[in-house]
Amino acid sequence: MKRRNLFLGVTAIALGLSATAFAQDLPPLAQKERYKVGFSQMESNNPWRIAETKSFHDTAESCGWDLIATDAAGSAAKQVADVDSMIAQGIDVLFLPPREEKPLIPAVKKAKAAGIPTFLVDRSVDPAAAVAGVDYVAFLGSDFIDQGKRAAEWTIANFKGEKAVVVELEGTTGSSPANDRKKGFDDALAADARFEIVASQTGDFARDLGRQVMETLLQAHPDVNVVYAHNDEMAIGAIQALELAGRKPGEDVLIVSIDGTRDALQAIIDGKMGVTVESSPFFGPLACDVMKRYAAGEKIEPWVQVKDRIFTKENAADHIAEAY
Ligand code: AHR
Repeated sequence: MKRRNLFLGVTAIALGLSATAFAQDLPPLAQKERYKVGFSQMESNNPWRIAETKSFHDTAESCGWDLIATDAAGSAAKQVADVDSMIAQGIDVLFLPPREEKPLIPAVKKAKAAGIPTFLVDRSVDPAAAVAGVDYVAFLGSDFIDQGKRAAEWTIANFKGEKAVVVELEGTTGSSPANDRKKGFDDALAADARFEIVASQTGDFARDLGRQVMETLLQAHPDVNVVYAHNDEMAIGAIQALELAGRKPGEDVLIVSIDGTRDALQAIIDGKMGVTVESSPFFGPLACDVMKRYAAGEKIEPWVQVKDRIFTKENAADHIAEAY
């Protein structure tokens, strides 16, 4: 233990704080009745984000949180400023879904320097620049590479033709789910020679942009017969564009996606979408549990992994009532 941390460790033990936190060289968290908690949301332009924010609000009272929740309105720069403001307000803990992998790294490091334990939620940062267990406590979230891989495996098993012309709608450029869902899908699809990805373009995880990008790509690739979208909102936008062009999603174009929103489950029930691999936005209870374990002195695993289900025509109707 470094000298500064040895001094802090002795002080912490005297104050009843966790010694384990110091062993990890991370800011400690005292066990107490109420916590001032920061949750820095990146945007609120889709049902997934709204469900995630609601999950934090719904958890606040039972977990003893005085919650400060912000919305960066789709700007990484504003998200950095929001974290700055939370640090200035003296939060005890920070829960952060970083919009993109690189721009939020200084905010993560600044929170640590201010003595605030930080948990990355749902999205991560560039692991070459900031490390779980060192710069922040842990990442709470899904395996995005595996989500993309499972989407590809379903596509390979369910595409019945001889030649697949695939369009990929990517999420926000520079974000961990866009990077990883692309890698997982593209690598797994390469195993089957029937598939060619003819275009891969960002729709920024947004329904309207997904629709616009699909409209444009349809001009260049009218023979598309598989669309893989990195989230349900873009998949729904693509379905709208395909229908406007006289195509029949679900019949002459396979639609493959990730999230598990209510609209996606309805599209599966209606026969327009083939599959959505789940990516749960309900992080509030998990965040509460991990925070309490950390305050109790437990060493937190660097990646607290969320397990995801898969929704198809076999089970979509069974889950639509609980969807968001
Ligand atoms: O980080 C998770 C992704 O972000 C979800 O798939 C998407 O809908 C959201 O905006």
